[in-house]
Amino acid sequence: MSVPIAQTAAFGCDDLGVLADIQSGARKGYQYTRIANPTTHAWESEVAALEGGESAHAFASGMAAVAGVLMSELSAGDHLVVSERVYGVTHALITQTLARFAVSATFVDVADVSAVEAAFTEKTRGIYAETFSNPTLQVAPIEALASLAKRRRVPLMIDNTFATPTSVRPLSLGADIVLHSATKYLNGHSDVSAGVVIASRAVISRMQKTAWLLGATLDPMASWLLLRGLKTLSLRMRQQCENARIVAGALAKDSRVRRVYAVSGCAVVSFEPVPQDGETLLMAATRVSAALEHVPVVPSLGGVSTTITSPAMTSHRSVPKIDRERLGVSDGLLRLSIGCEDAGDLCKELEAAL
Ligand SMILES: Cc1ncc(COP(=O)(O)O)c(C=O)c1O
Repeated sequence: MSVPIAQTAAFGCDDLGVLADIQSGARKGYQYTRIANPTTHAWESEVAALEGGESAHAFASGMAAVAGVLMSELSAGDHLVVSERVYGVTHALITQTLARFAVSATFVDVADVSAVEAAFTEKTRGIYAETFSNPTLQVAPIEALASLAKRRRVPLMIDNTFATPTSVRPLSLGADIVLHSATKYLNGHSDVSAGVVIASRAVISRMQKTAWLLGATLDPMASWLLLRGLKTLSLRMRQQCENARIVAGALAKDSRVRRVYAVSGCAVVSFEPVPQDGETLLMAATRVSAALEHVPVVPSLGGVSTTITSPAMTSHRSVPKIDRERLGVSDGLLRLSIGCEDAGDLCKELEAAL
């Protein structure tokens, strides 16, 4: 009932002939955990099935998955069209690291598919977006982006971290590559750092050639915890999304709240408290977050316990103020990652803090 933890860095085999057969693919088997591990493979198979993909490859973090995809799909001279609302660290990877390897990018509002097409150059080799953007939860029009990508013969890459396959399955909508920070909902217990990429067998085996060289390998113990987390993914998401719907409704009715961002099928709710008596936006956000008794300030999301953070101070820290404010990320915005607690308790706690 529980996949064993193959807690080993390497595997023995009977003789060099067997080793050669495993290396050539003539015989199934494991040789080295950086290449493949049975516990990790069990988790990869389950995630691939959930996303409706042929194959998956696990990484040691979500950022390793993002890097693995982009370094496999792009080469020097290539150009990428990217959502302007992409996770700040993904933005930095593209504009700081990949730029040093002569990969260029144009950041656009992906909700406007004609703007996405207008950003294409003859060097464009992909479109990259997130299903629900962080923290304002803009929904990417995946089907329309997929038909544009197909017409222009480039892959559509979707970071599905905020939605999970229980809400949206991008491959079924025409995306070519799906990736996750499994640190968030796929694991769900805030105790593992992991990433995963799901795509066709051909795309994953091409990407593995890069992944094996990068070496950001998921640990077998972490794979086992991820397998355990996956068993409750749909239960957790159902409860967390329902709680988010109730909390968002309560916040929207509260006159002490200026703005609420929420979307069906997502357990993140962002809101901006109204400043009181000469407070700045940041002071209002600090007051409300500090007054929450059971909701800690945590710069992550996706666990079973509700947490809160300031996107301006975390995910969007490196984005210039003028740009992040245009995207709705003011100093006063707070992002709740809603957990599995009783929704009534959560509403009471927020009401008291406000
Ligand atoms: C949407 C999204 N993608 C990728 C990542 C990176 O994942 P990790 O922190 O597991 O490296 C994050 C992290 O917050 C994220 O929110």
